[in-house]
Amino acid sequence: MDIKLLSGALGAEISGIDLKDSSKENYKRINNLLLEHKVIFFRNQDITHREQIALAKNWGPLENHAYVRGLDKHPEIVRIVKTKEEKNQWGENWHTDVSYNIKPTKAVILKSIKIPPVGGDTCFSNMELAWETLDEEIKEKIKDKKAIHSSLGAEFFIDNYKGMSGHEQRNYDEYSNEHPIVRTHPETGKKILYVNWTYTKQIIGLNKEESDEVLQKIFQHQARLDLTCRFNWTKNAVAMWDNRSVIHYAIADFYPGRGLGYERIMDRIAIEGDQPN
Ligand SMILES: [Fe+2]
Repeated sequence: MDIKLLSGALGAEISGIDLKDSSKENYKRINNLLLEHKVIFFRNQDITHREQIALAKNWGPLENHAYVRGLDKHPEIVRIVKTKEEKNQWGENWHTDVSYNIKPTKAVILKSIKIPPVGGDTCFSNMELAWETLDEEIKEKIKDKKAIHSSLGAEFFIDNYKGMSGHEQRNYDEYSNEHPIVRTHPETGKKILYVNWTYTKQIIGLNKEESDEVLQKIFQHQARLDLTCRFNWTKNAVAMWDNRSVIHYAIADFYPGRGLGYERIMDRIAIEGDQPN
């Protein structure tokens, strides 16, 4: 096995592990790497949908997305599609997946199917480091507080993306839940800064104005480049991230004459998580 660190903050590209192997031994090896590096990448993994599902099930029950319909044969797999002329893509801007749920996703296994020649990298930011390096005054202000996380509804997840479709019974509900701003990782015991630009709306116990001001400072801090790594996709690459301890950003840099005009297709499986505490 070979481990190439992607930045000084988090992320590693792993070679010498076969993701077709969904044995307990392989799961333990991969989970240890995941907890250490928070996001891990594997290239040239020609795994089938069944193999991706079998691997994911080692971490626990799989999630169905509240808004987006999965593949007909494998509803656990959401196909993320950016059509040729689209300039946006699913997952752009900093977020943690489904933090608006009571039990947000534990981890995600994302496999690339079709990748543009340039553009569409994914960035990750380390929220353990973000907590450690946060301004002491802000830490003091938020350490025992909760924040409200809200989904943005079906329009946000489906209508903005031509290549993606919602459940047959269209879900327009908006989900909203409160989570501690600093959560403790259930496996490592580490403190994690658990808010994100996309879904976190307000700090409970602060008035709207003060909450906006503090959140704005935190969001800027979380996006500091020295907390991040960036992955350049190739076909049949697999990323697995610990959705409890990172935020991520799918970069939509699709501009004329360079990244625009190509399809980008990814298959995503999410594993159910715990209620943050
Ligand atoms: Fe995401």
